[in-house]
Amino acid sequence: MQKNEIRTGIVASMGCGGEGIVKDEGIVVFVPFAVTGEKVRYKVLKVTKKCAFGKLIEVLTPAEERVRPACPVFGKCGGCNLSHIRYQNQLKLKEQNVKDCFRKIAGINVEVKSTVKGDCEFRYRNKLQLPVGSVDGKTVIGFYAAGSHRIVPVSDCLINADWTKQIIEAFNEYVEKFNIKGFDEHNFTGELREIAVKDVKGNLIITVVTLSDTLRGENDLIEILSKKIKLPFSVYHNVNKNESNAIYGEKFRLLYGKKDYSADMLGVKYKVGVQSFMQVNASVCSKLYSAVREEAALTPETTVIDAYSGAGLMTALLAKSAKKTVGIEIVPEAVDCANALAFENGLSDKITNYLGKCEEIMPDIIEKERKNSSDICLILDPPRKGCDIKVIDAITKTLPEKIIYVSCMPSTLARDAGLITGTLTLNDKGEIIKTDKIPSDLRYEIVLVKPFDMFAQTKHIETLVLFRKKS
Ligand SMILES: C[S@@+](CC[C@H](N)C(=O)[O-])C[C@H]1O[C@@H](n2cnc3c(N)ncnc32)[C@H](O)[C@@H]1O
Repeated sequence: MQKNEIRTGIVASMGCGGEGIVKDEGIVVFVPFAVTGEKVRYKVLKVTKKCAFGKLIEVLTPAEERVRPACPVFGKCGGCNLSHIRYQNQLKLKEQNVKDCFRKIAGINVEVKSTVKGDCEFRYRNKLQLPVGSVDGKTVIGFYAAGSHRIVPVSDCLINADWTKQIIEAFNEYVEKFNIKGFDEHNFTGELREIAVKDVKGNLIITVVTLSDTLRGENDLIEILSKKIKLPFSVYHNVNKNESNAIYGEKFRLLYGKKDYSADMLGVKYKVGVQSFMQVNASVCSKLYSAVREEAALTPETTVIDAYSGAGLMTALLAKSAKKTVGIEIVPEAVDCANALAFENGLSDKITNYLGKCEEIMPDIIEKERKNSSDICLILDPPRKGCDIKVIDAITKTLPEKIIYVSCMPSTLARDAGLITGTLTLNDKGEIIKTDKIPSDLRYEIVLVKPFDMFAQTKHIETLVLFRKKS
C-alpha cells in the first residue's frame, strides 16, 4: 500500500472516532465518513507500521443507515462526524464503542444499556466556541477543520442553539465595521481570537477573547449585539496572550449585562458565571443527573464525595438526601458558584466545597471521611483525561461503598475502571498493565454502564458507570 494510491475496500467495522475501518492487504485503514458494510473508494493519505489512514472518495454501495447530512459544512468542519449516519444507528455505534473500550483497554466484558437520548438531535448545544482567524488577510469566524487549526467559516451551526446565526452575523458586522483583524497563530498577530457564548436558560454570556489589550469599538459591538440578539445577554472581554491552545487568558472584564445568571434544574437553583463548567446539553444533563441521583440511592447515613464538582449542581442535588456532601473543584469561580448554590438552596450546612486539584487534596479528604463513615458514595466526573493515578490510589485504599463515574471519554473511563476494579495495575516502571485477576478477585462489581447522548451528531459519548464494592 502506497501513499496517494486510490484503492477500493469493504468497511469491516467502525473505529472509536466514528471512522470506517477497512482491512486491506492485512492493513487496518481508517477511513472517516465510511460506514460498516459499505464498499468504498479511498485515497491512502498515510501509511504507518501499525495502520493506514485514508480519505473517502466515493461510496460505491451505501449502507442502509447512511443519510444525507443536513449541514453544508459537514466533512469540512471538525465538529460533527456522525451526521451521515441515521440517528438510531449513531446511538448503537456509541454503545458498541463503550463496550469495545472496556473489553480492549481494561479486559472487562460489560453489558452496555441503550443510549439515553436528549429532547433534540439538533440545536441542543448551549455552549458555542468560535475561533477567529485570518486567511489571506481576511478575518474569518468559524470552526476548526478536523485535526487542524484551519478555520472553516460558518454562518450557523445546526447542533448549536438557534441564536448562533445571529451571533455570527453580529460579529461579522462588527469585524467589518472596525476592520478587526483575526488572530494569526503562526505570526502571533491580530486582535480577535475567539468568541465564546454560554446559554444559561435563555440568558447568554458572551466572551470576546482578544490578543490585543483593548477591544476596539466595544460599545458599538454591544449595540450591534443588542440589535441582533433577542435574549438577555452579558458581554465579557478577555485578553489571551498565551501561546498555548488555552481559550482564555487570566482576566475577564465585564462590559455589559449581569455578572452571572441563575437557573434551576431538578429543583436545584444554580448560578453560572463566565468561567463555570456547564454541561452542553441541558435535556441530557437533566436525565444524567436524575440517573446519578437514582443510582446513588442515598440514605441519611451516606457521605457523598463529589470529585471534579464544577459549579456544584450535582453536589447540591445529592446533598438533599445525604448525611453530608463534599465537593472538590479546581476552578475558583466554580467553587464560588457552588458555595452560592449551596447557600441559595439552604444546603450550606450539608455541603463543603474544597478548592484544589483532586489529585492533591482528595486522598486526605476521603481518608478523613472514611474514619467517620461506613457508607461513602464517591462521584467522579473528571475531564477527558480521566482521573489522576493519585485519585485511583485513594480509592483503592479507602474503598468507597459505591462509585458513580460520569465520563465524557470512553477510553480513559475504561482505563480507570480497570484500575479501580483491579483488571489493570501499574508495573514498576509506572506503565499500566493487565492483571490476570478473575472476576471474583476484583474489588468492585460494575453494576451499570449507560451512555447518554450529550453530543448528538458527534463521536463524543457521555457515560455513567456504577461500581459497587464487593462484600
Ligand atoms: C466534566 S466537568 C464536571 C463538572 C460537574 N460535575 C458538572 O456536572 O457540572 C469536570 C470538572 O473538573 C474540573 N477539574 C478539572 N481538573 C481538575 C482537577 N485536577 N481537580 C479538580 N477539578 C478538576 C473542571 O474545572 C470541571 O469543572
